[in-house]
Amino acid sequence: MASRDWYRSFADKKYLISTSRTLLSHDFIQTAFEDAAMYWAKAMSPSSLRLMLDNSCTLGLYIQDKREDSESGPAFTQIGIARIITDYVTFAYLTDVYIQADCRDLGLGKWLIACCKEMVEDMPELRRVLLLTGSEQAKRFYKEQLGMNVVEQCADGLVVMSGRKADLQAVGRKEKTSDPV
Ligand SMILES: CC(C)(COP(=O)(O)OP(=O)(O)OC[C@H]1O[C@@H](n2cnc3c(N)ncnc32)[C@H](O)[C@@H]1OP(=O)(O)O)[C@@H](O)C(=O)NCCC(=O)NCCS
Repeated sequence: MASRDWYRSFADKKYLISTSRTLLSHDFIQTAFEDAAMYWAKAMSPSSLRLMLDNSCTLGLYIQDKREDSESGPAFTQIGIARIITDYVTFAYLTDVYIQADCRDLGLGKWLIACCKEMVEDMPELRRVLLLTGSEQAKRFYKEQLGMNVVEQCADGLVVMSGRKADLQAVGRKEKTSDPV
């Protein structure tokens, strides 16, 4: 499947979100999985990580490096991730949403989720998007950004949130997420 790219500038810095597997930094993902903020994940063997990424639609968030590499175009450093486990037609499970601490509160998380929303809204026979989360803040975030609703409270304190295509489409007017840099 062809990869999708979205570009945006915030405060003089240029950012890229891409579904390209070749751009993903395995070192960044392993470090993120070890971060206490990603309490549900842990680092894994390189072969397991590759298998996981080969079987997921992973959106990498990147910041453009100041130094331009004239031969191969601009260079980007990964600063975030969101992973969609999906058949690309009927079902999507959203997980591993993370932005490194020094890049938070800039609006990048909402943009990352808006790109995930575009990906799942484009699935031709989408039945449901699901995710698991914990905090009240996260529940609010996914309700506001994706139109997801809590459908089950788990014994471990997590909740299952679910959304149908109509729930996603009801969230505001689609933001323009693909402006070129
Ligand atoms: C969640 C996260 C990706 C948001 O990224 P961000 O770039 O800071 O987000 P933005 O600047 O676009 O928007 C900030 C919004 O994120 C929400 N937010 C902050 N921390 C959050 C968290 N842990 N879970 C969910 N939402 C969170 C805030 O409520 C804020 O909403 P508001 O502007 O309406 O008040 C980022 O805080 C993060 O990586 N947290 C650690 C990992 C995590 O908790 N992932 C989500 C688990 S469900």
